[in-house]
Amino acid sequence: MSDLNDLLYKKNYTVQDIEKLLSLRNTEDVERLKNRANEILNSHIGDSVYYRGIVEFSNICALDCHYCGIRKSNKQVDRYSLDRETVVSSAKWCADQGYGSVVLQSGERRDPAFVDYVEDLIREIKKETRSEKLPEGVGITLSVGEQSLETYRRFFAAGAHRYLLRIETTNEELYQSLHPASQKLEERILCLDYLKEAGFQVGTGVMIGSPGQTTAMLARDILFFKEKDIDMIGMGPYLVHNQTPMASEGQMEKDELLQLSLNMIAVCRIVLKDVNIAATTALQAVVPDGRERGLSYGANVTMPNITPTEVRSSYKLYEGKPCMDEGRQECKSCLLGRVRSIGRDVAFDQWGDSKHYAARKAQLEANVC
Ligand code: 5AD
Ligand code: FES
Repeated sequence: MSDLNDLLYKKNYTVQDIEKLLSLRNTEDVERLKNRANEILNSHIGDSVYYRGIVEFSNICALDCHYCGIRKSNKQVDRYSLDRETVVSSAKWCADQGYGSVVLQSGERRDPAFVDYVEDLIREIKKETRSEKLPEGVGITLSVGEQSLETYRRFFAAGAHRYLLRIETTNEELYQSLHPASQKLEERILCLDYLKEAGFQVGTGVMIGSPGQTTAMLARDILFFKEKDIDMIGMGPYLVHNQTPMASEGQMEKDELLQLSLNMIAVCRIVLKDVNIAATTALQAVVPDGRERGLSYGANVTMPNITPTEVRSSYKLYEGKPCMDEGRQECKSCLLGRVRSIGRDVAFDQWGDSKHYAARKAQLEANVC
């Protein structure tokens, strides 16, 4: 199909082009999509895989997203918040293992005590993880939701330099069906602008296959990432959590959900080129080798879970989340085996920043001069 070849090598993509790519299902076409994604990965950023050790440091959440297992109305969740020493020692463990970066993720809170706590964690982790290999300490990515510009500035000044804030969908109606009326898509978008203004490498992404989502919506999401000049993508399949209002709506059939999610990764790689793309844990909830598959479709980042085992099962956003009973040591060897099983290797002792961000920054500096 030479039409497909034209599509895979286009310079500028329309919604219709992207829809076509996302809809590919025939084995041969999917193989070509995957090959093109890998060609771009290799020519723009290389095939190393970067680790971010993720610490889910608190499941206390002030929000009530209809899909999420730790939403505030779910009274069946045992709420926890890890103390400073536990979080800092987890980050130190990461540094010792050669994981150059950590992600600090939690439920969303905006109260001053929380903001102060996160700021303190960042400073302490930066101080405690400096070494010959990591002279500035581990790289810190935050994933603590919508905050004010001032808060983002404080987090950045303390030493965090990447931030993940998923948009979930750019479709107004779908966004509203996923969230209570008090949560607004325009506010989420504004936060992405704030994050950029504060100096962060900005990551976003969507839930794939949420009820009511169409391929055209996903295609528009990808164009949104492009327009917003996003540096990193973290997205994954939507999976039901039984204690949420959306549980009754069901979820997409697994084979279809997996292929759509993998195609999303490949198409993001093809359209966005030099961004970091994560093979997320939720892929592994669909099939055991989901993360490897994500990497083989053009992703270059993955996040070993380093949350203490005692609290892991309380940070359950969806059913079937993997690694619930494992410890950080088990995830370490398991994940390395998974990455190597597909002929890739991990770049240890590096932050693994987004190449797109470097290019964006160089452009900004050129404009200033
Ligand atoms: N299925 C898949 N992803 C989910 N998330 C939250 N709940 C679910 C679910 N049920 C994702 C959201 C959020 C991220 C931290 O986890 O995209 O931004
Ligand atoms: Fe956690 Fe495999 S990555 S057990």
